[in-house]
Amino acid sequence: MKVLVSVGTRPEFIKIVPVIRELKKRGIDTHFLYTGQHRDLCRPLFDFFAVHPDTDLDIMKENQSIAHITSSILTRLDATLDTVKPDLVVVHGDTSTTLASSLAAFYKKIPVAHVEAGLRSNDRYSPFPEEMNRVLTDRIASYHFAPTTQNRDNLLREGIAPANIFVTGNTVIDTVKFVAAKIQTKKKKQVLITAHRRENFGGPMEHICRAIAELARLFPDRAFLYPVHPNPNVRKTTGALLTGIANVKLVEPLDYIAFITEMASSELVLTDSGGIQEEAPAFGIPVVVMRRETERTEGVDAGTLILAGTEQSDIVAAAKRLLTDPAYYASFAKATNPYGDGHAAERIAEKLSGISS
Ligand code: UD1
Ligand code: UDP
Repeated sequence: MKVLVSVGTRPEFIKIVPVIRELKKRGIDTHFLYTGQHRDLCRPLFDFFAVHPDTDLDIMKENQSIAHITSSILTRLDATLDTVKPDLVVVHGDTSTTLASSLAAFYKKIPVAHVEAGLRSNDRYSPFPEEMNRVLTDRIASYHFAPTTQNRDNLLREGIAPANIFVTGNTVIDTVKFVAAKIQTKKKKQVLITAHRRENFGGPMEHICRAIAELARLFPDRAFLYPVHPNPNVRKTTGALLTGIANVKLVEPLDYIAFITEMASSELVLTDSGGIQEEAPAFGIPVVVMRRETERTEGVDAGTLILAGTEQSDIVAAAKRLLTDPAYYASFAKATNPYGDGHAAERIAEKLSGISS
């Protein structure tokens, strides 16, 4: 049995690295294929986790289109599959790497296993293109590793056979626990911010930045730390609206251990990220989700996330309440994180090794 694991972006690697480790631990021949969709954001991670790609398709272009990512991976992975000849392709999540890799495997009639299957917002344009990437990848995949029972139920509603769905928890908790054991944290009067979603480019991103500027004026004793995603569409807006505000610190993306240290030391997180909605509650940090929808509804139900939308006044109101109402804040900090127990990768690798025999 030979497994090819395909990864292209920062969050895919963070979440799949424990699975790669567990597969190798079980003696499974594992080929790590990196599409290179995120040329800069992944390299520090490979060194930190000491897991390096066996193949790099090197596809990234400045301000790339979705069509560029998809078409270059399809073409280049097709050739790699002929050389590597895997029996199974493992993909993660909902990026264009995920969908293109699944499709490339399908064209060779190689079965696909999808890790983080079954997440749904039920809005095909939000998150865009991720919602459609998930739906199509789950249609192609033969094996579905669903983080939660809600994710499993989404798959069952779409007619996926129950025997091919495995509820495992989210592997991000495995990674976060690995890193948490290595860091020292000290609480600071700090709000941590990230935003990068394509559907938020333009107007919503401007509202997000104006909300941050307003919060920085309202709370001059707080530091607003914002590691800015390298996407030029993000940088255009953050640069224009948030430069020169004394307590807003725009910085380059942080390496993973630094980012988790800052997260665990912060009072609050404002984000449109998927993974951060799962990680921050592991440290009891409330999250204001700056999106119109979330596929992480378990976090909203458990009281770890507030779905604020992208209007300036709604983001400000949500953050202001958390920063000024200690009883309200405490209810978030105490809520249980519904995304897993840190053993998801073991369950996935165990199942995959069963497929091989
Ligand atoms: C991608 C995924 C998104 C995921 C996100 C995680 C797609 C369509 N989008 O979005 O689902 O949530 O990654 O961060 O798959 N760039 C660099 N260096 C890097 C990475 C990006 O310079 O290491 C710049 C480039 O100009 C690149 C642009 O950012 O063209 C956009 O990157 P891309 O992967 O297309 O989109 P993301 O917004 O990162
Ligand atoms: N992250 C990081 N450095 C940063 C910002 C984020 O290491 O400066 C990590 C974060 O902890 C999480 C992942 O990157 O694990 C989330 O990536 P992103 O928000 O880009 O993607 P999404 O989860 O929305 O797909």
